[in-house]
Amino acid sequence: MPAPSPPTGGRTVPSPYDADPRLGALVVGRQELEDRVVELGRQITLDYADRPPLLVGVLKGAFVFMSDLSRSINLPVELDFMAVASYGSTTRTSGVVRIVKDLELDLTGRHVLLVEDIIDSGLTLSYLRRTLLARDPASLAVCSLLVREHYEVADLDVAYTGFRIPADFVVGYGLDVGERYRNLPFVCALVGEPEVQQPS
Ligand code: IMP
Ligand code: MG
Repeated sequence: MPAPSPPTGGRTVPSPYDADPRLGALVVGRQELEDRVVELGRQITLDYADRPPLLVGVLKGAFVFMSDLSRSINLPVELDFMAVASYGSTTRTSGVVRIVKDLELDLTGRHVLLVEDIIDSGLTLSYLRRTLLARDPASLAVCSLLVREHYEVADLDVAYTGFRIPADFVVGYGLDVGERYRNLPFVCALVGEPEVQQPS
């Protein structure tokens, strides 16, 4: 079978995105995503065998990853979601974050696994980490589908990383630009500037 080529990323049926000029090179293909999510799920299953985690997804970007990841974890997990928005009008976060939708579950004494779509500057993550730690979880670890290459993962203390990717703005598999492209089943680069958007 030929390798998937951008921008279809392995789609076998025609899609309205096929001829979309804003979709550039494939960054992570459908099969790679599937395989890596299974691996992450297997690792998390081993690491949390005696303490089933509470998965906390960061909306909206993490919803696709969270859905697949949760089904790859062979433990009785619980799930909750929060939504954050970044103040300011840049395409990337300003680091000043506010909670738009808070969690419904109490984190006290829970083993929390924070599930993110992408860690870019790490500012959103550091805000979330501080906020969640203040709620007295028994433990807090981070699982991010994507991490920008220019950051040392150790610095950010990300226990589980799907893929390290270059600086290009990417869309698909939950990630958007202006709310579009979240349902692409692969991750690809965006052609041109992302313009002003609310990080999500
Ligand atoms: P950070 O605070 O700079 O780490 O930004 C994290 C957030 O910015 C992510 O959760 C995304 O919502 C958004 N973001 C950063 N880079 C991208 C990208 O390439 N595509 C889509 N969203 C992005
Ligand atoms: Mg996000």
